[in-house]
Amino acid sequence: MKVLNYGSLNVDYVYSVDHIIVGGETQHSSKLEVFSGGKGLNQSIALAKAGVPVYHAGIVGTDGDILLDACKEAGVNTKYIRRLPVKGGHTMIQVDKNAQNCIILYGGTNQMQTKEFVDEVLADFGEGDYLILQNEINMLDYIIDQAYEKKMKIVMNPSPFDEKLNSCDLGKVYLFLLNEIEGEQITGYKDKDRILDAMAEKFPDACFVLTLGSDGAIYYDGKEKVFQDIFKVKAVDTTAAGDTFTGYFIAATIEGRSIQEALRMAAKASSIAVSRPGATPSIPEAEEVKKELEIL
Ligand code: RIB
Repeated sequence: MKVLNYGSLNVDYVYSVDHIIVGGETQHSSKLEVFSGGKGLNQSIALAKAGVPVYHAGIVGTDGDILLDACKEAGVNTKYIRRLPVKGGHTMIQVDKNAQNCIILYGGTNQMQTKEFVDEVLADFGEGDYLILQNEINMLDYIIDQAYEKKMKIVMNPSPFDEKLNSCDLGKVYLFLLNEIEGEQITGYKDKDRILDAMAEKFPDACFVLTLGSDGAIYYDGKEKVFQDIFKVKAVDTTAAGDTFTGYFIAATIEGRSIQEALRMAAKASSIAVSRPGATPSIPEAEEVKKELEIL
């Protein structure tokens, strides 16, 4: 069984600000840091650091060295990452004094996937292999259809949610990892139980992990719910916390751990990520997570 994450790679430009800027305002930032990020890359790095061999597929631009270096350092397989001679995907992230962030995303090369490239990548994968997706690249509808035909297990993090996802056949997804905002965008409900019930009704073949910010996370397979609280830490930067959770949860289930244990590891890993600056650099190694949880 192989694990493929087909997703975004972004250079994150992170500005430390007093407060998130409002319309018409100009504000000095006290610091600019540049990190490797992107929901796709963050999740691949979390999987790799959690100990699961992962192939990342995607496209970087002329500024992509930092992203390829991050893959190599974490042990993410870069065989399916291409480079185009144009500006790559990047973000402008504000982080305020309370560790809140807001993100402007520029798709760049993340939005330049072609059918030919998708076919080339998926040609090497088949039945039972995992495919992990987020919503920061184009061609998602095609990727989902092709992967489903191949009987791959499709894991979807519908983030950031937008209308493009409505053109995807999400009924082909095997596991959704989403937060309450995305849950509301998909189902129209705000309440966690109503979101999960509506998701299960809409996608009867799927399982769900709904993350609730400081209220923890719930797994639901349509019958049973498993709850996990957060590990409280002093937040420094919440960027990539959700991606760390996603990568660690998938990795732990692939390793054969119980849902409860997978949620616990994901919550611990994400709490460590929150306590550190940056996207991929904030993601902990498995050893650290296991040591803190006192598990093997
Ligand atoms: O989920 C965090 C990520 O979202 C950041 O690394 C940024 O690149 C955006 O894609």
